[in-house]
Amino acid sequence: MTALACGERDRRAIYPGSFDPITNGHVDIITRGLKIFDRILIAVLENPVKEPLFTVAERMAMIGEIFSGEPRVEVMSFQGLLVDFARNHDARVVIRGLRAVSDFEYEFQMALMNHKLNPDLETFFMMPSVRYTFLSSNMVKEVHRLGGCIRDLVPPIVESNLDEKKRRAERSIS
Ligand code: PNS
Repeated sequence: MTALACGERDRRAIYPGSFDPITNGHVDIITRGLKIFDRILIAVLENPVKEPLFTVAERMAMIGEIFSGEPRVEVMSFQGLLVDFARNHDARVVIRGLRAVSDFEYEFQMALMNHKLNPDLETFFMMPSVRYTFLSSNMVKEVHRLGGCIRDLVPPIVESNLDEKKRRAERSIS
């Protein structure tokens, strides 16, 4: 990355999501996003309504480890409106991955709502590699829970943390 001239802004983007857990599809979007943006803030949603498998701290720790060698990636958590988080972090771009046409309606609605709330905030859609178009965090959790192989779908740290969660759940039942 070249140094910024005095007064020049870095091209920073926010990549928000639940990341419960992060998958190779997310990693692919972040890696490719780094070719376009100087800095990516990964914003992990703290959603009191949803019951996640991993705590926010666990999700952030996994993401932090995956990108430990990449100083241009920062991991944060947020509550409330994404537009407020973006404003507080001086970001004007939100990255979202679009896997299939089925994602479009929800993403379109969200982008338009965010734009209405803050007209200076743009949503930047990226398609993940075709290898990951079928992939979602929920699908990974289900396949893993039912004994399927997820090796190519998530980073190793996520696979081992899923294994650990499963072992604990099995211990608590028996
Ligand atoms: O990974 P997800 O669950 O699809 O991410 C959804 C997320 C976190 C981007 C979205 O739910 C969000 O931005 N939530 C914050 C609340 C908000 O700003 N809502 C108004 C925009 S629809």
